[in-house]
Amino acid sequence: MHHEGLKGLRLPVFCAPMFLVSGPDLVVAACKAGVPGAFPSTNTRSIEELDQWMDEIVDRLSPGDAPWIMNLITHSTYTRLEEELRLVAAYKPAVVITALGSPKPVMDTVKSYGGLVFADVVNLKLARKAVEAGVDGLACISAGAGGHTGHLSPFAFISAIREFFDGFIAVGGGVSDGAGVAGAIAAGADYVYMGTRFLPTFESMAQDEYKDMVIAAGADDLVVSSAVTGTPASWLKPSLAAAGIDPDNPGDAAARDYSGGAAKRWRDIWAAGQGVGRSRSREAVADVVEALEREFMAAVERFDRIIAQC
Ligand SMILES: Cc1cc2nc3c(=O)[nH]c(=O)nc-3n(C[C@H](O)[C@H](O)[C@H](O)COP(=O)(O)O)c2cc1C
Repeated sequence: MHHEGLKGLRLPVFCAPMFLVSGPDLVVAACKAGVPGAFPSTNTRSIEELDQWMDEIVDRLSPGDAPWIMNLITHSTYTRLEEELRLVAAYKPAVVITALGSPKPVMDTVKSYGGLVFADVVNLKLARKAVEAGVDGLACISAGAGGHTGHLSPFAFISAIREFFDGFIAVGGGVSDGAGVAGAIAAGADYVYMGTRFLPTFESMAQDEYKDMVIAAGADDLVVSSAVTGTPASWLKPSLAAAGIDPDNPGDAAARDYSGGAAKRWRDIWAAGQGVGRSRSREAVADVVEALEREFMAAVERFDRIIAQC
């Protein structure tokens, strides 16, 4: 590995950015629990509100906390990017993760203050392009992820990327316990990108009904469909049914929409990944991270035991 990693993490886990779910409380709680917390800039309604959020996050964090992360949409139709980059330059998040577009537009700004750029990718073609653009890391969204999901097995995805990239890999998709984190690290990832596990925490902005649906659901209660946003995403079937959409036949792909129209749909139709079954109650982020650490250490010990027996 050529790069220096992020310092002071309790576990190699990122609390991944979630539309309408991640706000300052979730980001700060994750960082204080020892794992970097991320939020998408799109969760703020205006550039002024984004400025307030970033100011609040920086203000509430202390030197010993894990660093915070921002997720930016770099799609050419996203009009706020330039203004957002000015705030990034001012508040200096340790990592910027780009989504739905090339990482190129953010590279100079983030590199200028020593931050890391990760690109969110769902296939090898996008991964190669991001590597060519000079990213420090890839967020490899694999099958089983909540929200806009990937379709590759995380094992195949990591293995193929390691053929041409020795920078950071954060892998996401259905990892909801510490054993899964250990497995992803063993497979060649540096970090696990975990969204769903943090969805029903007290600090998340999801509505209580959404949190309760995540807690009640299992992996069989999901369907991947492009019908809602135009891009394959993993949805909770009961929320589709409640919105009048047949969960077993959600229909054709909707027009791609990364702006206002999509927001309303995400408010009523709820996304989750295949790790949904792991959440059994609303919990504090600190308790989730503690459980992850316990499970991670138990998996590492099991690993040692199995190797000793081989
Ligand atoms: C409700 C929800 C909303 C999401 N919104 C975003 C988003 O705005 N931007 C983004 O890059 N990823 C988003 N994601 C994907 C996560 O960042 C992450 O890739 C994913 O949650 C990892 O899989 P997991 O949910 O199985 O842990 C979202 C995921 C969920 C569950």
